[in-house]
Amino acid sequence: MTNSAFTPRVFSGIQPSGGLTLGNYLGAIKRFVSMQEEAYETIYCMVDLHAITVWQDPAKLRHNTRELAAGFIASGISPDKSILINQSQVPEHAQLAWIFNCVARMGWMQRMTQFKDKAGKNAQNASLGLFGYPALMAADILIYHATHVPVGDDQKQHLELTRDIAIKFNHDYGVDFFPITEPVIEGAATRVMSLRDGSKKMSKSDASDASRINMTDDADTIAKKIRKAKTDPDALPSEAKGLDDRPEARNLVNIYAALADISVDQVLAEHGGAQFGSFKPALADLAVAKLAPISTEMARLMDDPAEIDRILARGAEQAREITAPILKQTYDIVGMVGG
Ligand code: TYM
Repeated sequence: MTNSAFTPRVFSGIQPSGGLTLGNYLGAIKRFVSMQEEAYETIYCMVDLHAITVWQDPAKLRHNTRELAAGFIASGISPDKSILINQSQVPEHAQLAWIFNCVARMGWMQRMTQFKDKAGKNAQNASLGLFGYPALMAADILIYHATHVPVGDDQKQHLELTRDIAIKFNHDYGVDFFPITEPVIEGAATRVMSLRDGSKKMSKSDASDASRINMTDDADTIAKKIRKAKTDPDALPSEAKGLDDRPEARNLVNIYAALADISVDQVLAEHGGAQFGSFKPALADLAVAKLAPISTEMARLMDDPAEIDRILARGAEQAREITAPILKQTYDIVGMVGG
């Protein structure tokens, strides 16, 4: 059986671990919105169970989950077109994850670079959940039989593991039950880099706030961060090849292209030869024009958290219509007795 036997279905998730960045927006959410308008069923998730693999203050986690939901909606994800959920309200994610804990191998998990990065030198003190994280991520996707997963470049290895888990499950039990999911890692901004260091990913956990644009930053802050972004002294090249070995310049051009929905070549056709003194203000204007309405709408939605909770409760009900039968079939395949 090939994936064409499955309903074209998109799943993706973001951790509500505090603050959405421009990296999350360009690498993930913008694509979530465009796929919602295509011929897919779309399910988008605040992965709260993943967030607690490192310590989260409970009150902040609750706030961050609602704020992330507001960010999804303000960016254009419509609860009428997509299923919007927080992971813990759909218990089948965690139930399937247990089965996958028994399918995935220790050696596979030990190769995960995100675990190594996050656990750091003190791996013995990392939570067991952080180690098993990719099995839960595979369950998030496969509990929907999702065929496509839009993500930024940093999630590629986890998606390969998801495919390995599906293949091993299907093989071990002699079934064609789980699809072999396609990662969707496309566009100019699959890896948005820090504004202070072109060799580091833009991340909400970077100690320097100047390294990232937060979706809640106001227009002045966005403009100031872009003006101060690290660059080199040269003018912009007129062809993409001229960005080789210029990571900071390449990053700003990629961000421009992704925000404007044009190619890198088109950006350089327009701005090639320009100094950063003129390109940065153009980028700042573009970023403010695209992002300020989102942060304003997020703030408005956050004034009514009860409405966000209602949307997530409705999403969970819709999600469980898909996940409950798939979990039941999985249990049957595995040999669990039940009605
Ligand atoms: P998370 O929460 O770290 O990031 C959410 C999404 O944003 C993308 N992203 C970026 N893209 C480009 N440039 C950046 N600097 C950047 N930073 C983050 C990430 O690639 C991701 O797409 N493990 C996932 C969450 C998850 C998930 C899933 C994703 C849990 N279950 C199932 C897809 C499917 C994570 O930690 O993403």
